[in-house]
Amino acid sequence: MAEPNIESILNEKRLFAPSPEFAQQSRFKSSEDYEALYQQAAADPAAFWAELAEKELHWFKKWDTVLDWQPPFAKWFVGGKTNISYNCLDRHLTTWRRNKAALIWEGESGESRTLTYAQLHREVCQIANVLKNLGVKKGDRVGIYMPMVPEAAIAMLACARIGAPHTVIFGGFSAEALKDRLLDAEAKVVITADGGFRKDKVVPLKPAVDQALANNGVPSVENVLVVQRTKEDVLMEPGRDHWWHERQAEASADCPAEEMDSEDMLFILYTSGTTGKPKGVVHTTGGYNLYTHITFQWTFDIKDTDVYWCTADVGWITGHSYIVYGPLSNGATSLMYEGVPRPSNPGCFWDVVQKYGVNIFYTAPTAIRAFIKMGEELPNARDLSSLRLLGTVGEPINPEAWMWYHRVIGGGRCPIVDTWWQTETGGFMITPLPGAISTKPGSATRPFPGILADVVDLEGNPVADNEGGYLVVKHPWPSMMRTVYGNDERYRRTYWEHIPPKDGQYVYFAGDGARRDEDGYFWVMGRVDDVINVSGHRLGTMEIESALVSHPAVAEAAVVGRKDDLKGEDVFAFVTLEGNCKPSDELKEELKRHVVKEIGAIARPGEIRFADALPKTRSGKIIRRFLRNLASGEEVAGDASTMEDQSVLEKLREGA
Ligand code: PRX
Repeated sequence: MAEPNIESILNEKRLFAPSPEFAQQSRFKSSEDYEALYQQAAADPAAFWAELAEKELHWFKKWDTVLDWQPPFAKWFVGGKTNISYNCLDRHLTTWRRNKAALIWEGESGESRTLTYAQLHREVCQIANVLKNLGVKKGDRVGIYMPMVPEAAIAMLACARIGAPHTVIFGGFSAEALKDRLLDAEAKVVITADGGFRKDKVVPLKPAVDQALANNGVPSVENVLVVQRTKEDVLMEPGRDHWWHERQAEASADCPAEEMDSEDMLFILYTSGTTGKPKGVVHTTGGYNLYTHITFQWTFDIKDTDVYWCTADVGWITGHSYIVYGPLSNGATSLMYEGVPRPSNPGCFWDVVQKYGVNIFYTAPTAIRAFIKMGEELPNARDLSSLRLLGTVGEPINPEAWMWYHRVIGGGRCPIVDTWWQTETGGFMITPLPGAISTKPGSATRPFPGILADVVDLEGNPVADNEGGYLVVKHPWPSMMRTVYGNDERYRRTYWEHIPPKDGQYVYFAGDGARRDEDGYFWVMGRVDDVINVSGHRLGTMEIESALVSHPAVAEAAVVGRKDDLKGEDVFAFVTLEGNCKPSDELKEELKRHVVKEIGAIARPGEIRFADALPKTRSGKIIRRFLRNLASGEEVAGDASTMEDQSVLEKLREGA
């Protein structure tokens, strides 16, 4: 386990209060508002959430029990019946929001589409019927492997409508990675597109699905539904593959939402952990709906007139919670953009802000660092005066990037919500409420009301202010993951027993290092396990190691993160080769391509270093700490005497 590194941000003392104009129009206007709310929620979290669930969501039937907590397994709103697709769509149709824009979509090549709540509802109902016609029943899993088009959101909502848990697989994952996930989830149907557009190129998606399913590779998959996006020629296997538009045209638009149990599974989302296999994080219906609804509403202090834009991909939890479910449950307007800044159009984000008058903009630190590199001229040449609130997510934001974001994009007037959370937490855990909490560059500030966050040592004892420790949560919350799909034991071990429970008191271990300062502000310092964060994408080092070792030339591989100014971290791989294989630059390139084939371009190693041997303890464990030092060109820190072969480090250094 790595020690949290707190040096870098210990000296950050700047404080930014929201302007009186901003605070005055906010739901929560002062730190007293926040403190009172936080205290009330902490005194009785279940009562706090129950009151909100009653007020904010539609229930076909009210729950019998708010919280059933059999550590580490939680159930929320037990006995309650609801449907998140109903909460995101149907309930808005009887209000003026019926004809409000639900989704605004901007394509990479400049085409656009707006779907009102009524239109979105109609399409979701049709696709829900298409799925039913393909034999999908409540409880069946549906894989979604899509580009950033409205059909991705429609597919998710259609699944939710009929009670079929979806598993969205990021369109940047390779056929191999797709196959692993479809197999684990035993998906019955896959929804995909012929391809997508990325950086002015076509990304073939259907061919990857074909590859994953070849030779009965995923026996559970019976049908594939294909959105036509790029109009490239794709293979359509008769009986198995169906065009979305053809099936939609035949489908009825009448599809009442299934009455779901609050604890019925809503989706599985795969994420990287410390062992090789990605884990399927399970989220259920009622608690997830409530928590994403409230965190979206309060953190973005959403107004009915706002145009809200989150730049994430729907393939990640941020897209699930804060492009689709949270915004739509609130009846907000959520903008979806297919493109990314690219050489042919580096200012495209600011064009989109200007074109739609975006009011709330939510992105990742890695994107902000890329904007800084591209220069102020691009944003300065556009009208960004519509922006009133900014957000960041995915990795710690360095104070310089925060300051640039605040000054150049926010014009010095927009509060920044730095939201700390995870796939596992479902929604924001530590974040400012922007009208109430003054911000400090680099700090996610205070826990959301109802979230009992703390910083502790490995025995679970709280550490003193400003001392590094491990970030934990001491009480269940509505959108917490329920389990690892098919593996309760892994769930228990990874998250709830890492810090041993004391007197039956279980704490959730997030895997992040953190520090709390004298004002109660949290500073998240990054992962303390074998997970690395490359451009805000979460990758398991073991996952990349398994990919490398699956190449015939590789005997052994160890992967660590190396600090990178743009990406946050980059993948650095140490590789030993099989007996008669010779190191060469060609082989390095081949191994990089191999990782892309096994996982996807996001995992491509930035550097591979060949070695004769890896530093190991006498019991044969690779000493990653040393490798991290070597990768960053630092002196090897700590005691090397436990090493089996002292000459290994010397050789590795020479290898540089
Ligand atoms: O290390 C933390 C980092 O991202 C991890 C969660 O990754 P993932 O499940 O992919 O979800 C990303 C989007 C929610 C965390 O364990 N992280 C996320 N947000 C922040 C962050 N680190 C620091 N500050 C943040 N705001």
